[in-house]
Amino acid sequence: MENYFGDILERAISRRDLFKIGGILGLSGLFNVGYSKNIQTSVKTYKNLSLRTIYPNTKDEITIPEGYEWKILIKWGDPLDNNDGINYQNVFEKASNDDVERQKYCFGYNNDFVGFFNFKDKTLLVVNHEYTDPEIMFKDYFLKNQPTKEEVDFMIQAHGLSIVEIKKNKDGFFEYVKGSKFNRRITAETKTLISGPARGHKLLQTSYDPNGEFVYGTIANCSAGKTPWGTVLSCEENFHSYFGGDLENIDPEKMTDYKVVEIHQRYGVPDIKYHDYYGFYKYYDRFNVEKEPNEANRFGWVVEVDPLNPNRPPIKRTALGRFKHEAANTAIGKDGRVAVYMGDDERFEYLYKFVTKNKFDPNDREKNLNLLDEGTLYVAVFNDDLTGQWVEIASAYLENGKYIIKPNPKLPNIFQEDPVLCFIYTRKAADLLNATKMDRPEDVEYNHTTKSVFAVMTYNEKRKASETNAANPRPENTMGHIIEIIEENHNPTSTKFKWRIALMCGDPKASSYNNKLFIYGQLAKSDVPPISAPDNIAIDKVGNVWIATDGNPGLDRLKSNDGVYVLNPFTKELKMFLSGVPNCEICGPEFSDDYKIFFCAIQHPGEGDLNATKWPYLNDNCPIPRPAVIQVKRKDGLEVYV
Ligand code: FEO
Ligand code: CA
Ligand code: CA
Repeated sequence: MENYFGDILERAISRRDLFKIGGILGLSGLFNVGYSKNIQTSVKTYKNLSLRTIYPNTKDEITIPEGYEWKILIKWGDPLDNNDGINYQNVFEKASNDDVERQKYCFGYNNDFVGFFNFKDKTLLVVNHEYTDPEIMFKDYFLKNQPTKEEVDFMIQAHGLSIVEIKKNKDGFFEYVKGSKFNRRITAETKTLISGPARGHKLLQTSYDPNGEFVYGTIANCSAGKTPWGTVLSCEENFHSYFGGDLENIDPEKMTDYKVVEIHQRYGVPDIKYHDYYGFYKYYDRFNVEKEPNEANRFGWVVEVDPLNPNRPPIKRTALGRFKHEAANTAIGKDGRVAVYMGDDERFEYLYKFVTKNKFDPNDREKNLNLLDEGTLYVAVFNDDLTGQWVEIASAYLENGKYIIKPNPKLPNIFQEDPVLCFIYTRKAADLLNATKMDRPEDVEYNHTTKSVFAVMTYNEKRKASETNAANPRPENTMGHIIEIIEENHNPTSTKFKWRIALMCGDPKASSYNNKLFIYGQLAKSDVPPISAPDNIAIDKVGNVWIATDGNPGLDRLKSNDGVYVLNPFTKELKMFLSGVPNCEICGPEFSDDYKIFFCAIQHPGEGDLNATKWPYLNDNCPIPRPAVIQVKRKDGLEVYV
């Protein structure tokens, strides 16, 4: 036990504040940061979870509880137009330009975020395609010196997003509509606009865009979020993986600002681990930092996509800051301004919030489409006494068409002299404001039933005991945890909050105390399913938190397939709802608007072991496993959480 909360306990005890210790451990549950009375009494539906839990396993099939059934909705290579899908055998044997052309109109690879939209007369699904697994897609990939140009081009088209119309069948499941006019692909080549305070900045100027106003494409789109006005905020996460070259050899004529080297180092650009794996920079100068040093600055943003208007280009919203964005989830504040919660998914990085300057107008969609260009960017500080604050990095607003940017006065000269840096070099600004270093922040989402925010820390095995803080209390946190943030007055636009740890992930039966499972501070009973590496979450109508994992297979974690779990924050139950196939992660948990369908993405089945699986086994002679979006429903047709 001594290793577990280590320093935190000591620090807390030295303050003789047992009340707070209880909170740090979560033991108190509802002590001083619990749900207010009116929330508890307004939730009449917080009954026990009725589903019969499954347990983590290593089966080469999707496992769900009794009484549920599942079906594939769409998979990599399915055509969005009326033509044929991808010819997997051809791609695997030798990808050609014809295959590249088809991938432009077919569902992309490695589906991550899944967003369900029910507009008046149509239902649309928006899906991110985070990255590609070339060693699975292309035969003998690792035996070659470098990928072929066709392979690189194919991968460029397999990234990005898919927007696809879906409709419900008689069997209660959805199917996608081939050839719908709403279907579209956004790829790593689609013209994408830059808006907000960083538009036009010298660090965003390149040879092909000397004005810093647009980028070809979006990459590394991990998770996302939906806005109240019906758009998607797609998040560019591990963009650094695609850039090669050497920072010491940057062409001086292309250097618009000497700070680019320092910025790239802080963001891990170029990535010597992955640049040859993808090989984009070998064929395209814009991915080579020596030749185009600013191109990487044009990634790492939140990209707003309008599913309703296939002609509207994606837009990078620079006011939301630049980091390895995992997700961006919105909540409307009491005065109508909109908060966007965001995590920077890397070890020891931060949790952010953006609050719009203007109010959401439910009757003016066009006006809302510009909301994310003006507002204030904050970073989270968690105090050991279970309080916290959102510290302002900078605010940006327009006056007569020009940006007025006000950095936090505590930031040093480089940010005062060039305030746009707050948005481009956001990580540095957060460092200087002493933000709390977290255990890889993934999804952060407002729960409208508990009126609190659930923030997921996937894991951080590199945290030393001396580096623990109350919000990240575990040294060598291999299992991950989930923090619940209760904003002042339960208002998403507040700048103060209280917090507690909802879930310390692990196995109730783990031999090491550091790896045991705690639910609101209580050691879980032995029949509770183990969970590790929480990643994306979705919140159902009655406030249950559905948690998808990415890392259960890890040797220092559960050594079983990733899955989906359900946490009931009222009854404090945790059950397992779905188990994936070998070497996949589960992402994109989402519900249909009637909560009768649960969607999720089976991403990278078989990654890291070419013999692990050929899921989804469709008897169509495909030589390789395929990522797919699946849907799960109750056989009796009731809401999935019933
Ligand atoms: Fe792409 Fe943070 O997961
Ligand atoms: Ca993720
Ligand atoms: Ca992840």
